[in-house]
Amino acid sequence: MKGAILAGGKGSRLYPLTYATNKHLLPVFDKPMIYYPIQTLVSAGITEIIIVTGGPHAGDFLHVLKNGEDFGVDHIEYAYQEAEGGIAEALKLCEDFVGKDSVTVILGDNCTDADIKDEVKRFSKGSVVFLKEVPDPQRFGVPVFDKVDKSRIVRIDEKPKSPTNNYAVTGLYIYDNKVFDYIKMNKPSDRGELEITDVNNRYINDGKMSWSELQGFWSDAGTFESLYRTNVFWTKKKLGQDQEKKLTNF
Ligand code: DAU
Repeated sequence: MKGAILAGGKGSRLYPLTYATNKHLLPVFDKPMIYYPIQTLVSAGITEIIIVTGGPHAGDFLHVLKNGEDFGVDHIEYAYQEAEGGIAEALKLCEDFVGKDSVTVILGDNCTDADIKDEVKRFSKGSVVFLKEVPDPQRFGVPVFDKVDKSRIVRIDEKPKSPTNNYAVTGLYIYDNKVFDYIKMNKPSDRGELEITDVNNRYINDGKMSWSELQGFWSDAGTFESLYRTNVFWTKKKLGQDQEKKLTNF
């Protein structure tokens, strides 16, 4: 199993914070954001990792991650995404690296303390998406469940105005090698991106998708609110609740 961390894009929702560096290198308590998705993969036993990034600060990643040794990564590679062509476009750049293997993908702004080791171990074919209940599902991909067999996803809607439930499809996915064929079938969406949700819907139509609920904390950190929330969670987790209270009690 290979790992891919997708950390492209301009991070424009976080301007002016991202004028001077890449969004995924911003601090989340005591570490740059990208440390968290790396930790998720390494803890699941995935030590061959590709980082896809882009934009004017792509070179900063080398200073921070170097050859990955500090994190227990055996092999690290970098790919450069020219434009913000979407998550599926970023994943397409990993095809050579993945080769004939399967790949666990995590978005570079997804910070979780959930353990996905069992799902990675069990995986052989098809795809797995990880779900999490959230208060604001309209910001995410949202699964639509079968009316009879409630455990079956029939479709994923990207940022629906009226979500049918409170689950978000998190930015954590496991795919077999077929993912690259599915990406090649994709057309850019109305916002000009190759959407990962279209890829996931192809797996669903072929009956090749399963899902698992993430146990623990999960948040993206791509808006001011979610970046703050993620910082508060990790500060509490690492310092302890009482210590965090002392810091913020002014
Ligand atoms: O966080 C989970 C959500 O991520 C999912 O629920 C959605 O289905 C999925 O589309 C995505 O939604 P976002 O609107 O949050 O995606 P965003 O454009 O913010 O990109 C998230 C990360 O993906 C970003 O931190 C880096 C990577 N990315 C994104 C784009 C557009 C790339 O590597 N290249 C890209 O071109």
